[in-house]
Amino acid sequence: MTLSTLALVPVLALVCTPAFAAEPVSAGERLAATCTACHGTRGNTAGTALPPLAGQSKETLLANLKAFKEGSRPATIMTQLAKGYTDEQLAQIAAWFAAQRGEKGEKP
Ligand code: HEC
Repeated sequence: MTLSTLALVPVLALVCTPAFAAEPVSAGERLAATCTACHGTRGNTAGTALPPLAGQSKETLLANLKAFKEGSRPATIMTQLAKGYTDEQLAQIAAWFAAQRGEKGEKP
């Protein structure tokens, strides 16, 4: 190996370093991924039958999720779904949706 080849090693290491690890995924975001199938990407369901989760306050989201879990708010599907999460996980999910942009693209 010549000196000039050796000089390329750090350059190649830089070029080959994957860039996908830039933003760590939070627990709330990971858990909320299962909700997006019905509630839209990042909780935006503008123009559909479901109210957008994005932009609602964390307190409102959490209160509704707990009401679903306890069965005090009647629902078709959310009662079963909410039972699958601990209160801490529901709080993480609520915080994540609350931090997403609302229906009109503005922060709550
Ligand atoms: C299979 C489709 C489906 C999935 C998956 C789903 N939801 Fe729902 N969600 C609904 C439906 C339908 C409603 C309306 C209430 C009902 O009938 O259950 C609803 C209502 C809600 C509401 C009340 C919204 C409001 O403003 O009144 C919240 C909050 C909510 N879902 C959160 C979640 C979260 C968090 C997840 C992921 C853990 C999730 N949902 C996953 C279908 C779904």
